[in-house]
Amino acid sequence: MGKKGAPNGDYNLRFDAYGTLFDVAAAARNVAQEPGHDDFAAHWPKLAEIWRAKQLQYTWLRAITDTHTDFWRVTQDGLDFALEALGLQGDGALRTRLLQLYWELQAFDEVPAMLASLKSKGFKTAILSNGSPDMLDGAVRSAGLNESLDAVLSVQSVGVFKPDRRVYDMVGAHFGCAKDQVLFVSSNGWDAAAASGYGFTTAWVNRAGDPVDRLPWAAQHMLQDLTDIPTLAGAR
Ligand code: LAC
Repeated sequence: MGKKGAPNGDYNLRFDAYGTLFDVAAAARNVAQEPGHDDFAAHWPKLAEIWRAKQLQYTWLRAITDTHTDFWRVTQDGLDFALEALGLQGDGALRTRLLQLYWELQAFDEVPAMLASLKSKGFKTAILSNGSPDMLDGAVRSAGLNESLDAVLSVQSVGVFKPDRRVYDMVGAHFGCAKDQVLFVSSNGWDAAAASGYGFTTAWVNRAGDPVDRLPWAAQHMLQDLTDIPTLAGAR
């Protein structure tokens, strides 16, 4: 943080997981390159897009109808919708492989150095995600990020998905920090916007150059990737 003499450790960095630290398209992209899935090569970008869109829609619908379930359930439901939409529902081996890789997602290239830089400067870092604890554990381990994170917070402990305020409340409850001590980073425009409305300072990682969501709130910062997060945190 920028305040003279103040330790960085009291400024908290919270990261969304899927799409922000972990490349959710990687499962479909990698399967398309594997032997035996040649037909999938033409389909994977569309499948990844529909899968992600449906996965998120199901989280919002379950939150507003008070029918919470595990993120693994909505991940499978979103995939089943996407496979059927593309006429691929009969390929059980493809479904199994796609789901398997979701537990071993790659981190975006800049993530390890970015987190290491934050740690070396004394910032506290954590994930705040819709993911279930076991899914997040798998992804964090396979990306080798265990040592770079102070905590992994899953919505499972409050039983509702983002952007319900109870999810953002978990940060203060766990770390005992005030809202203005949190920089929340997400690649999901709606998540960054809602977290701004909640009271966090937020950075939207807009890799695709998407338009800003038309919502009552907006992220304070927009970045192309995560490289400049340590600079942004230090300029507070
Ligand atoms: C998450 C989803 C929203 O990790 O990407 O919470």
